[in-house]
Amino acid sequence: MAERFQTVDKAQLARRFGAAARHYDAHARFQQEVGQALLELMPDRPVGTDLTVSGLDLGCGTGFFLPTLATRCAELTGLDLAPGMLEQAALRGSGARLVCGDAEQLPFADNAFDWVFSSLALQWCERPAQAFAELLRVVKPGGQIFFATLLDDSLWQLRAAWQQVDGRAHVNRFLSLPQLEQALAAAGISAPELRCITWELAYLELPQLLRDLKGIGANQINDEGARSAPAGLSGRARLQRLAQAYEAFRQPDGQLVASYRVCLGHLGKPC
Ligand SMILES: C[S@@+](CC[C@H](N)C(=O)[O-])C[C@H]1O[C@@H](n2cnc3c(N)ncnc32)[C@H](O)[C@@H]1O
Repeated sequence: MAERFQTVDKAQLARRFGAAARHYDAHARFQQEVGQALLELMPDRPVGTDLTVSGLDLGCGTGFFLPTLATRCAELTGLDLAPGMLEQAALRGSGARLVCGDAEQLPFADNAFDWVFSSLALQWCERPAQAFAELLRVVKPGGQIFFATLLDDSLWQLRAAWQQVDGRAHVNRFLSLPQLEQALAAAGISAPELRCITWELAYLELPQLLRDLKGIGANQINDEGARSAPAGLSGRARLQRLAQAYEAFRQPDGQLVASYRVCLGHLGKPC
């Protein structure tokens, strides 16, 4: 059994993402940019022009990338843990088959897909090595996997500001690069191509960042300490203190910066 990186209440995670699904796209500027960068790593037709090419978008969310991915294969499947996300994805009319399932236990046969695309979903897995092993299992020999995931240090400014308010992180934990490399190795993946990029988002005021996090359903999913508010400060007073603490990250141009550390990965399954 692969090592557990975090404990995730998957039913709750699915509910949170599902509840956010209808307004997700309006708050997903960062996710759209990352997915676009991942698409650019893929050849237009990843495995030749064979009409039987089949692709999987793992953690497809609202299906933002399904219409583009559909042009790169004959049969496209979108998989997500959250039924609410899949309902939104169905409205895209991409023709993709939509399947509710868990990345750590994929409901597909071995060697089912020519390629897998997965943008900003794998960081929610409890056992990353298990998820990578599943990706490898469902890809055909000679097939390819393209993924984007978050690394620790993502949202470090928000974490630092919260620490000043109540000594807690309030920000989801993610793998470090060495932990990610270990998970890939444990899944039997050798020589992955990994590219780490820092993404900096600018906001005029902190509530805009908090609204984006809430709007995509990704606020405080695996931060255990954040669920119980400390005694003594009302929610409003805490947010005011948080905004004050975050002022330390206001840039000379007047914008507040929020950084994400993203790893873009490309793996090939040996023939
Ligand atoms: C931040 S969203 C990204 C969605 C989409 N890929 C995008 O870039 O817009 C993360 C998605 O991963 C899904 N997800 C989280 N854990 C999952 C798991 N274990 N298996 C499948 N999907 C999962 C969530 O339900 C959510 O839709």
